[in-house]
Amino acid sequence: MRGQDDRRRARPAAHELARYEALFAARTRGMKSSAMREMMALTERPDVISLAGGLPDTSTFPAELYAKLMAQVAAESTARALQYGPTEGMSATVECIVEAMAQEQTFVDPSEVIVTTGGQQVIDLVCKALIDPGDVIVAEAPTYPGAVPTFTAYQADVMQIEIDADGMPIDALEETLDRLQEQGRRPKFIYTIPNFQNPGGVTMSLARRRRLVEVARERELLVLEDNPYGLLRYEGEPLPTLYSLDAQAAARGGAADLVIYLGTFSKILSPGLRLGWAVAPRPVLEKLNLGKQGADLCSSSVTQTFVAAYFAERDAHGQPAWLQYVERLRDLYRERRDTMLEALQEHLGERASWTNPAGGLFVWATLDGDVDTTDLLARSQGVAFVPGRAAYVDGRSGSSSMRLNFAGLPEQDIREGVRRIARAIGPDTSLLGALTGQARAGTADSGAAGGKQDVQAVLDAELADVIELPRREQQTPRRRQDR
Ligand SMILES: Cc1ncc(COP(=O)(O)O)c(C=O)c1O
Repeated sequence: MRGQDDRRRARPAAHELARYEALFAARTRGMKSSAMREMMALTERPDVISLAGGLPDTSTFPAELYAKLMAQVAAESTARALQYGPTEGMSATVECIVEAMAQEQTFVDPSEVIVTTGGQQVIDLVCKALIDPGDVIVAEAPTYPGAVPTFTAYQADVMQIEIDADGMPIDALEETLDRLQEQGRRPKFIYTIPNFQNPGGVTMSLARRRRLVEVARERELLVLEDNPYGLLRYEGEPLPTLYSLDAQAAARGGAADLVIYLGTFSKILSPGLRLGWAVAPRPVLEKLNLGKQGADLCSSSVTQTFVAAYFAERDAHGQPAWLQYVERLRDLYRERRDTMLEALQEHLGERASWTNPAGGLFVWATLDGDVDTTDLLARSQGVAFVPGRAAYVDGRSGSSSMRLNFAGLPEQDIREGVRRIARAIGPDTSLLGALTGQARAGTADSGAAGGKQDVQAVLDAELADVIELPRREQQTPRRRQDR
C-alpha cells in the first residue's frame, strides 16, 4: 500500500523528462501540474486534517445496506454486472437518473441521457466534442478546479467572469460576449455551476438564471450546467435548473435546445461508484457518445447495476431509501457547515471574509492583506485546503482565497482544521498590537523583527497545547529498486 502511495507521489526529474520531451503532444505543454495533485498526496496522510478534496462523507452510508445490495447484484445479476454495457448506459440506471432529476423538477427524456464515468467525464467529453485549440469557453471566476486542467488540456481560451453573491452577473457575461463578437469569436459554451458553486459556495439567482437562458437563446450559445449539488440544499427554496428553463422556452416536447446538463451520483450517493451523466440535445449527445466510445467504451456495469438496485430499495412506508439518505446528508452537512462558519468567525473573524453557502460542500474564504494561499498551504502544518489559484485558469488570480470543504469531516476536525489554518497565517497582529502597544506586524513571516519575536512568543504560549505535526516530507529522488 505504502509502495503505491510513494509511486504516485514520485515526479520525474528534469533529466528523465528530457528523454521523452520530443514525443509529447503540443497540448501537454498547457497541462497544468495542479495544486490538486500535490494536495491529494497531502490529504492521504493520517496526521493531516483535509478541508481540501470535494469529498462527501461516505462513512455515513449504511454498511449493511451496501453489503446487502452488493450481494444482491452478485447473486441476481452476475452475468450482466460483469459484462460490458451500452455506451449510453444501462436503461435501469437511466431510469434512476430520470427519477433523481425529477426531484429537482427537471423532467427529461431517457433517450437524451448518457451515463458517464463521473460528472468529470462529461466535462471532458463536452470539450472533446466542441473544443479546437484556441476556442473560447466562458466560465465563472472562480470555477471548479477540476475543470481547469480539462479546459487547458484541450487548449481552450477560457474567459472567466467574476461571480458575486448571486452567481455569475449576466450583464458582465453579455459585455464579454459583445467583446468576443466584435473580434468575430463565438464561445463554444458557457460553463456554470448554478447551485452552491464549487468553489464559491454561491447560488445563481432566479432572475439571472432566466436571463442566462434568454441570452443563450438570443445568441445561440450552448450552456454546460454543472449541477452535482442541487439536491444538497440546507435552507431556502430550490430554484429551477437552467435545463428546465430552457426546456420551457424550447417547447420541444420538454427537452432543452441549448443546455447540456451534467449530473452525478458522487455527492448524493458515492464518488467511488464513478457514475455521472449528461442530458443533451440529440446531435450533441451523439458526439458525446462517440467520444465516450473512444475513452472507455462504457461506464462500469457493476456500479450501474448497484445504483439500479439501490434506487429500487424502499423503507416500510414505501419511501425510496436513496431520498432518505439524501435527507440525512442534508441534516449532517448543514450542521457541519454551521460549525465551519462558527470556526471561521472564531479564528479568522477579523482577518478574512467568506461565503455563506445555502447548500453544497464548500466555503470560499478570502484572507485580508497579501497572504498567498498557495504558500500558506506549503507552510501549513497538519491541514490541507484548495488554494484559490487552482480555480483560475491563469493560475495567478484568487491567490488570497481558499476553498474549504465542510462536508467530509466530523465537527471537531473542522474546528481544528480552521484553527491550524489560522495558526499558519500567523497571529492576528492587530489584536496583539492593541495588547502590547505595538504596530501591526503583518503575518508571522513578514513582521518587523522586534515585533515578530514578541508576537511569536505570544503565539507560542497560545498554541502550547497544540500537538506539533511533522512537516511535509521533501520529495527526494529515489533509486530504481525503491520503485
Ligand atoms: C462542480 C463539479 N463538477 C463535476 C465534479 C465531478 O464529480 P464526479 O466526477 O465525481 O461526478 C465535481 C466534483 O467535485 C464538481 O464539484
